[in-house]
Amino acid sequence: MSAEPAGRVLIASNRGPVSFILGDDGKLTSRRGGGGLVAGLSAIAGGAEVLWVCAALNDADRAAARAAPDGRLDVSLSADGAGPLGPESGAGPGGPESMVRMLDIPAPVFDRAYNGVANSTLWFIHHMLYDTPNRPLFGLAFRREWESFRVYNTAFADALAEGAGPAVAPAAGPGTRAMVQDYHLTLAPRMLAERRPDLAIAHFSHTPWAPPEYFALLPDDVAREVLEGILGADHAGFHAQRWADAFLDCCEAVLGAQVDRVARIVRHAGHTTTVGVHPLGVDAPQLRARAGGDDVQAHVTALTEAAGGRKLIVRIDRTELSKNIVRGLAAYRELLITWPQWRGQVVHLAFAYPSRHDLPEYREYTASVQRMAREIVDEFGTEDWAPLVLQVNDDYPRSLAAYRLADVLLVNPVRDGMNLVAKEAPLLSERGCAVVLSREAGAAVELGEGALLVNPYDVSATAQALHEALSMTDAERTRRAALLAQASAACPPDKWLAAQLSALETAARRQPA
Ligand code: G6P
Repeated sequence: MSAEPAGRVLIASNRGPVSFILGDDGKLTSRRGGGGLVAGLSAIAGGAEVLWVCAALNDADRAAARAAPDGRLDVSLSADGAGPLGPESGAGPGGPESMVRMLDIPAPVFDRAYNGVANSTLWFIHHMLYDTPNRPLFGLAFRREWESFRVYNTAFADALAEGAGPAVAPAAGPGTRAMVQDYHLTLAPRMLAERRPDLAIAHFSHTPWAPPEYFALLPDDVAREVLEGILGADHAGFHAQRWADAFLDCCEAVLGAQVDRVARIVRHAGHTTTVGVHPLGVDAPQLRARAGGDDVQAHVTALTEAAGGRKLIVRIDRTELSKNIVRGLAAYRELLITWPQWRGQVVHLAFAYPSRHDLPEYREYTASVQRMAREIVDEFGTEDWAPLVLQVNDDYPRSLAAYRLADVLLVNPVRDGMNLVAKEAPLLSERGCAVVLSREAGAAVELGEGALLVNPYDVSATAQALHEALSMTDAERTRRAALLAQASAACPPDKWLAAQLSALETAARRQPA
C-alpha cells in the first residue's frame, strides 16, 4: 500500500470477501465474493490487521459461519481480491491479520433487511427508481421490514464492537478504525459509536445520494434515522461531489443539522461528521495482468472470430434497473435506423449479468432486456450478420476480452455512484475505445473530458453519440483514450483507502475527548 494503515482496521459490508458453495458431497468450498466493493476494499491487506464483518448470504455461508471457530474465518486478502480462501479450500490459512466474521442473521430477518429495505427501498431512493404513481407504499409491511433492518444493523454493530478488542491508549499509536460500507449499513455507525465511543468510524456510500425532495419520500422518522445513523460516523465518504452535496442538503433539510458546505462538516446532536469525496479508480497494472491471462486470450480469439472484422460496441453490466440497458438497446436500434450505413458493419456485444433475482422488478427487467434484444435481432439480422449478441451468464474472462476488443463502450446508467466498467475498458482496450457515458454516473466527473457524455433518458442523443463514437478519427480516439486511461487509473483502491483512513484520522481528532 502507498500509505500503510498500521494498526487495526474493521471493515463492515453486507457482501463479504468470501462466499461458500455447498457441493453434492456436502463439502463447503470457498470462493471470492463478487463486486467492485470487495475488490476495492481488498487492497487494505498490506500492513493492517483486518477484521471484515459481513453477512452470510445463503445456506452455504451460514453453514460455514456456524462451523468456524468463534465465528471467524481465516482469510487471505490480496490486492487483486483473489485469495479469500479458508482452510476448507486446502489453500492454507491467510495469516492471523485478516479474519472474516460472517454473521448468521436469521434468514427471514436478513431477507426483510436486504431485499425489503436495502434493495427495494434505499437503493430505489438513491437511484430515484420509483414508479411514483404506484410506489413506494410505506404501510405495515414496510414497518416490519424496517424493524428487521434495525436488527440486521444491530448485529453488525455488536460484532464490530466486540471485534474491536480493547481500547487503544492514544499514545500507543492509531486506534482501531471501523469502515462501514454502503446503504445496507446506514444505521450501524451510530449504533457502533454508542457501543464503542473510542473507535474512529467511517461510513462510505458506494451509491449516489438522493436530493432532499426525493429522499423525503421516506417516512419522516425513517429519513431521520438513516441520516442520524450515518452521522454517528466521524467521516462520511462518497464517490462524487454531487452525492456528498446531496447528503449535506438532506442533513440540513431533514434534520436541521448545522452544515458547513465549504469545509464539508455536519454538526448534529453534539457530534461532528466530516464529509469527503473519494472517487474509486482501478488498479491498472493488476487489471492488465489479469487481462493477459490465457483464459482471456481464448475469449479474445472467439470474439474476434464472431465479430468478423466489424466494429464492436460493448456494454457490460449487472442486469440492474439503474443500468438502463433497455434504453441502451433502444439507442442501438435507433443507430441502425438513422445511420443505416452501420448495418452489417457493427456488432453490439451486450453482457447483462444476473442480479438480485429475488426481486420481481429485476426478473421483469431481465425479461424486457431479452425481449428488446430479440426484437433487434429479428428486425435487422441477416444470414451473415448478427447485429447483437446478448449474453446473460456472468463470465469475467470474457468481459475482459470484450474490453480489449471494444471500439466503443456504452455505459448509460440512469444514475450510478461511480461505475467502474467505464474505467476498466479504457485501460484494456487495444484500439483505444471511445466511451459513450451517462452524465448521471459518478465516473462522468473524472472521465467527462475524454468520454462522450449523454443524457441517459435521451435515446436519440445516445444513438447520435454512438454514431459519433463509431465515426471518430483515429487521432481523436487516441487523444481521448489517453485522457480516459489516465483518469481511470488515477485513484486505485490502495490510494482510495489510504485517503479515507487519513480523512478519518483527522475527523476523529475533531471530536471532544
Ligand atoms: C452495486 C453497488 C454497491 C453495492 C452492491 C450490492 O455494486 O455499486 O454499492 O454494495 O451493488 O450488490 P449486491 O449484489 O450485494 O446486492
